[in-house]
Amino acid sequence: MRLDKAVSQVTDLSRAQVKRAAKAERITVNGAVATDPSAKVLESDTLCLDGEPLLEPGPRYFMLHKPLGYVSVTKDSEHPTVLDLIDEPNKHKLHIAGRLDIDTSGLVLLTDDGQWSHRITSPRHHCDKTYYAHLAEKIDQSAVEKFAKGIWLSGEKKRTRPATLEILFANEVRITISEGRYHQVKRMFAALGNRVLELHRERIGEIQLDEDLPEGEYRPLTPEEVASVQ
Ligand code: URA
Repeated sequence: MRLDKAVSQVTDLSRAQVKRAAKAERITVNGAVATDPSAKVLESDTLCLDGEPLLEPGPRYFMLHKPLGYVSVTKDSEHPTVLDLIDEPNKHKLHIAGRLDIDTSGLVLLTDDGQWSHRITSPRHHCDKTYYAHLAEKIDQSAVEKFAKGIWLSGEKKRTRPATLEILFANEVRITISEGRYHQVKRMFAALGNRVLELHRERIGEIQLDEDLPEGEYRPLTPEEVASVQ
């Protein structure tokens, strides 16, 4: 790989900034000053910037409290994206482990560890996700059993997997699902003739949205939170 690319990948410097740093003799490769940004470097080479070794950073894991109005993609020409809320070097390397709709708020996990996020999003892993929902109509106790049995969603060949519904108030519920079908929660309530007015994700697996994390803010996951995703 070229020196400028290798350095910019492990720092928050652009390729142009790395070129200037090389010309200014701030970069060394295996102890020798390297001024040519196009020089080839190997993975085994030790690169230093201003005398500090540059190491490939380990995997990163963050929880974000997603506000309404943000899309869960990394690039969008029309709407702000959840990545716009993240201020980290090389943030374009992060991906979202389970999207939320633009009009859903709450817990979003971001990582650059593909295997870890696969365990959350893969349909085979049945990772639980818990949502608070405010509904347009009062909900009947019979919905608890219907959700536990599974719901036929329009256009789908399989019932939803059993979901747990807790009725909090006449039209406020907490629902836990273990799949991630398109607009799943909204469609499940629509199948009962109801409508979701407000949806907020509280939990993914064992990871609970931090109550102290204001909307639009994020924090690294603790080692215990990372390890909880098996
Ligand atoms: N279900 C939905 O309908 N929307 C979401 O954003 C998440 C789950």
